[in-house]
Amino acid sequence: MPSGLLGIEPLDRVEIEAILDRAKSFQPQQTARRKSDQLRGRMIVNLFFEASTRTRTSFEIAAKRLGADAISITATGSSVSKGESLVDTLNTLGAMHPDAIVMRHAASGAPHFLARHLVETPIINAGDGTHEHPTQALLDARTILDRRSSLEGLRVAIIGDIAHSRVARSNVYLLSKFGAQIVLCGPASLLPPELARLAPGVTLTHKIEDAIRGADVIMMLRVQLERQHEPAFSANEYFQFYGLRLEHMTLAKPDAIVMHPGPINRGREISSEVADSQRSVILNQVENGIAVRMAVLERILGN
Ligand code: NCD
Repeated sequence: MPSGLLGIEPLDRVEIEAILDRAKSFQPQQTARRKSDQLRGRMIVNLFFEASTRTRTSFEIAAKRLGADAISITATGSSVSKGESLVDTLNTLGAMHPDAIVMRHAASGAPHFLARHLVETPIINAGDGTHEHPTQALLDARTILDRRSSLEGLRVAIIGDIAHSRVARSNVYLLSKFGAQIVLCGPASLLPPELARLAPGVTLTHKIEDAIRGADVIMMLRVQLERQHEPAFSANEYFQFYGLRLEHMTLAKPDAIVMHPGPINRGREISSEVADSQRSVILNQVENGIAVRMAVLERILGN
């Protein structure tokens, strides 16, 4: 990782494994919940131009656990809502000399723009448009590896609004580097055929049953209504064809796990019975979000 973390695509296996290993040592069951002072005196700015609960909070908690000062700026509470341009906001922040900036933005490529603009400051991408969400893919991999010895050969079904999902893209890049078989599934309007060329090991299907059959991991995605001009189906129709229900689980491997990056919409992409079942690791993902973000911050800012 040269300076920041903009995506999974440019990382190699060794870098990814190093983060995942280190994240394990930050899991609550491994460490007493003491704060360390490893990053004492460092200032991390969380710059969030889009709504977020899990990602922003866990970056904040991760920074604080390592002893850093964390400041969160959200678009609605900042001068962005007074019409300040992105460049002016970034220049203002740059002048405060943060040690790292964590950025979420609705435009794909926004953190890359920031990285070119503030060359001295490591930038961490916390989700850019429909492009990448690298720390999500890392925490997802950590969650799978807590239950499986390797990603190699695992069958991972990613189901839902693939077209608009940065979570899907980052996961495809990561899982493919480790030899997983990835089945992307969704309605034709949300699953463009070119996604089959995203990485080796990717296949596409429009039928949820075909995606789930034999799966080790079932990863559900939210329909990103904020990124669609006119949704092609109602919530009920969507749930009927692409909602994960208990009856589907018999098709998967007996020990298959169900994942979701959140926020979940019960009765739209996943039934409550599945979301709250023993198979669901959704809250383990949230837990690992802190551990993985600690590992990423330590790697970028620790000496
Ligand atoms: C995702 C995101 O924002 O990309 N959520 C998250 O970070 N946990 C997925 C989503 O919003 O549906």
